[in-house]
Amino acid sequence: MSEERAGSQRTGPVETDFDHLDPAFAIVDDVHERLKVLRGRCPVAHTQADGGYFLAFRYPAIAEAARNASGAFSANVNIGAAPRVAPPLACIAPMFEVDGAEHRQWRKLLAHHFSQEAAATHEDHVRRLCRDAIARFVGDGQTDLVASYVRVIPPLVAAMVLGIPEQHRPALAEYLREFMTAATPDETARCSEAYTAFLSALLDDVEEESMIGTVARTSIGGVVPNPLQLTKFSALMLAAGHLTASDACAGVLLNLFERDRLRARVVAAEPGLLTAVINESVRQEPAVTVTGRAVVKETELGGVRLVPGDRVVLLWPSANRDESVFPDGSEFRVDREEPSAQQLAWGTGPHQCVGKHIARMEIRVMIEELLAAIPDVRLLPGARTRRTFGVIRGVPELPTIWSLP
Ligand code: HEM
Repeated sequence: MSEERAGSQRTGPVETDFDHLDPAFAIVDDVHERLKVLRGRCPVAHTQADGGYFLAFRYPAIAEAARNASGAFSANVNIGAAPRVAPPLACIAPMFEVDGAEHRQWRKLLAHHFSQEAAATHEDHVRRLCRDAIARFVGDGQTDLVASYVRVIPPLVAAMVLGIPEQHRPALAEYLREFMTAATPDETARCSEAYTAFLSALLDDVEEESMIGTVARTSIGGVVPNPLQLTKFSALMLAAGHLTASDACAGVLLNLFERDRLRARVVAAEPGLLTAVINESVRQEPAVTVTGRAVVKETELGGVRLVPGDRVVLLWPSANRDESVFPDGSEFRVDREEPSAQQLAWGTGPHQCVGKHIARMEIRVMIEELLAAIPDVRLLPGARTRRTFGVIRGVPELPTIWSLP
């Protein structure tokens, strides 16, 4: 990869062609090596891609922008994960895209839907979803676990958390799947329209006390959200809840399949081990790779001057391997000494992942149920598994086999 000094916009930042949005980037094997080189060179670089934006590679710069003590950064920005995973709706989504006091009010209003206690109340339901899904493939002796399992449960859970009535969740998950897997821009536009129409029609049918019912009747900042904002909020919530948990779960399974002894200890239900494996997997390969921020007042980040209108992408996987915080950050170690709260896979600051308790619960339950039902599930010999890089660190396939009785 070539890198040279910038000179075009303003002096200072290193110019890079690192571009998480370039489809060719999705399959690079050495993405962490590239991030390490960039991290070694500068805290913050600039790219001309997508109209130009800055990229933060080092932990302190990433944490500073996300924590936003200066008030210089806004979450309402057209770069990062959000605009790539939900239909393009021209409005500001409550909570996701608002800042400051309004954002705090939204978080407070919805906190009880995301608490550890709320996650625990959903556990039995998630177990039932897992058992139903496993029953559909267990007799086959083989399956791609990504398609038949880890991408099946999280959309249903995200729809439940949002408050979509149960009878509509499978159809909604199907619209969402079609939208996410559309192969051409035309197909994406068609699926996006169908998904948006289906979702917005459902919003008339939700209970008042549900999350979306609450958002619909709450006035923060002077007005209640309009139907377009409710649809965008819902689409972002479904995206936030499903790709992340699916790919994180697939990443944990891949780690277990590649480590026989660790896998055997997890199958034997060693207390606390699966939780430690999930925490370390999420640290080493964060499912959300980038988050965007817009600069709203002049500031400096990592020695680079930023002015209103600039956009910054925060690369969480780079923060989590920053040698100044995680000296051996590339290694997968379940007995890691650094406190798990120090890692940034869930983000940090006001917009830190509000769904992390739900995510950890559903990933744990998906793996517990799978290994309880099929303890000898393993990768198909010779199968080439890989991780992709984009706005999400993905595991596109997990071809597996197991013995039948
Ligand atoms: C392993 C799974 C997950 C990971 C790695 C993850 C990661 C993240 C990250 C990095 C952010 C911060 C974005 C920012 O700074 O702007 C975020 C925000 C968010 N996440 Fe998650 N997430 C996961 C699962 C979930 C789930 C299951 C839900 C909901 C059911 C969820 C709901 C949200 C919401 C609503 C936000 C936005 C919060 C705000 O803007 O205040 N996430 N997530």
